[in-house]
Amino acid sequence: MTSHPAVTKIQAFWKTVPDAGIVLKKNTGPLLEIVYFSMGKTIRIMNYVKKKHISRPLVFVSAFIVLLSVMLLTHCAAPEKDAELTGLQERALRFTSPLPEDAFLEGMPRSQALMDLGKMLFYEPRLSKSGLISCNTCHNLATFGVDQLPVSIGHMWQKGPRNAPTVFNAALHRTQFWDGREPDVESQALMPILDPLEMAATQEHVLAVLSSMPEYAERFQQAFPDADQALVYEHVGVAIGAFERILLTPSRFDDFLSGDAGALTEKEKKGLEVFMDVGCNSCHGGPAMGGQAFSIFQTPAERASGKSDPGRFDITGNPLDMHAFKVPSLLNITQTYPYLHDGSVWSLSETVDIVAMDMLSRALTPEENALILAFLEALTGEIPPYALELPVLPASTADTPRPVFD
Ligand code: HEC
Ligand code: HEC
Repeated sequence: MTSHPAVTKIQAFWKTVPDAGIVLKKNTGPLLEIVYFSMGKTIRIMNYVKKKHISRPLVFVSAFIVLLSVMLLTHCAAPEKDAELTGLQERALRFTSPLPEDAFLEGMPRSQALMDLGKMLFYEPRLSKSGLISCNTCHNLATFGVDQLPVSIGHMWQKGPRNAPTVFNAALHRTQFWDGREPDVESQALMPILDPLEMAATQEHVLAVLSSMPEYAERFQQAFPDADQALVYEHVGVAIGAFERILLTPSRFDDFLSGDAGALTEKEKKGLEVFMDVGCNSCHGGPAMGGQAFSIFQTPAERASGKSDPGRFDITGNPLDMHAFKVPSLLNITQTYPYLHDGSVWSLSETVDIVAMDMLSRALTPEENALILAFLEALTGEIPPYALELPVLPASTADTPRPVFD
């Protein structure tokens, strides 16, 4: 997504102001929200404008008022910096950073046509053999991108081996899946469609379904205008991946990291301190608070049963990778129960105790546990409204393959 021209202008304008940092927080729907900070204080401007009807004078008047306030703050009423709070922010910024506006990498295609198509495909159950299962079945965007089941249920009620991680903020991970077997969301998206336990389809089925509906053929043309052939299987992954690259959920913690020391409560700040003091941040780092590294882990249920998931070992064959799993993201963690790769623990408090003991050999006191939980609570973000607006899918035609239940 490119910035609204008005935003680009305001940003250019502010760049000339010494000491003023600017972070654009949201630019979706009719709400244009701009957050910027100066001398450790955050000022927030919210313009409720319909993008189509944005009035230039309004933008410039706002920009002028903002400029004045920045100058006032900087020169007249320079606020006393609270050393401790600023220290906490600086410390946190050593292991994480505010979420970017989206997760597109330099040079990636990112047209609206592509994202709209990706959203339709994400919600499209006819990609599956049964015509029943879409990505959204297991990564329900209304429940923070998960199915809230211990392990997922796929084609013909088959149980998969692992808990479904959320698709929100997943595009920021260095690798995809618990064992990191796919490098990015584009390649990842092609796997569940063909997985016999999940959507159980074939590439031929997917292409037959999509080419049977003229609207899809047209939308692929619009999304891939330069391709020799627009409707090919790989492009299904590219389109879904493009949609996933905007599935980021900024939270109050991002406001805190962007300079607003008051965005977290005292209790949450204490929780952040405990989180860092005991060393959770050594693994749960990066803007998604995870997704960057692997670690060896067996769940208590696995230890009790003696049957443990080999994790990354199955991919690399390296004995050092036995039971290695990707460090999961902690964003929206209060919403994405049950926990751990086998979904065996429903309580977040219990999960935190288990992980602290296993990863850090640390028995948390009930107070420490409660403070960490308060901090994790603050990582619950806002789902982009665009993702929650259901797309209307085209009607099947006589050529659309019928559902198959076997
Ligand atoms: C039947 C349920 C099911 C369906 C349908 C499904 N997924 Fe998943 N998804 C899972 C499970 C379970 C995992 C974890 C599997 C693993 O790591 O081995 C997963 C993993 C992922 C991940 C990796 C996230 C991370 O943190 O590593 C992404 C991204 C994802 N799925 C996106 C999709 C997309 C896009 C679709 C549709 C094309 C889809 N999924 C369809 C259950 C499902
Ligand atoms: C050595 C690296 C490491 C450290 C340190 C660490 N974790 Fe984790 N954490 C992981 C890994 C790996 C998993 C995935 C476990 C699995 O395979 O089920 C995980 C899982 C979790 C989960 C469950 C996530 C989910 O979606 O199921 C939570 C919550 C969590 N950690 C919080 C914490 C907290 C709080 C601390 C500090 C007390 C901490 N972690 C310390 C690596 C680490």
